[in-house]
Amino acid sequence: MDVVKSSWGVADIENQSSRGLSQETVKMLICRSQDAKKHAYCPYSKFRVGAALLTLDNSVITGCNVENACYNLGVCAERNALSKAVSEGYRSFKAIAIASDFCDQFISPCGGCRQFMREFGSKWEVYLTKTDGSYKKMTVDELLPDSFGPEDLTMKKSDRYS
Ligand code: THU
Repeated sequence: MDVVKSSWGVADIENQSSRGLSQETVKMLICRSQDAKKHAYCPYSKFRVGAALLTLDNSVITGCNVENACYNLGVCAERNALSKAVSEGYRSFKAIAIASDFCDQFISPCGGCRQFMREFGSKWEVYLTKTDGSYKKMTVDELLPDSFGPEDLTMKKSDRYS
């Protein structure tokens, strides 16, 4: 896991050993997630969230949370971005940046969104951000260890159930 104190100034990368996106790309992706947050429809929680996904071919697909008067129908920003991306033909992702209005803590994706990300692999990067652009970089696997994914459905089952 990397923590970068401010992506707008001199980067302070605590784990230099990790290789990933360039600082420029990370900054762009975080900016796109902050822009997406502006479209959040959250009249009930008033908790704005934006997400920006970077696809394998370097397209950026954004999403925001969209709530509903029937509360349980609300959709998180991350899931919204992923559903948009899949519906446009993308299934391979390099990274997702997530933005909220938290200035003192990194936004952390909910369990449902972690599972939704995991559907498309466990090795890609998740940038949890604060409003100043600083971030914590994690992988899907770090956010959801020992996860259940599509491969598990094809694992050999006991003969009793075959
Ligand atoms: N929310 C997200 O969009 N992503 C998350 O990972 C955490 C929560 C949204 C859902 C709801 O609209 C609001 O934030 C409050 O939970």
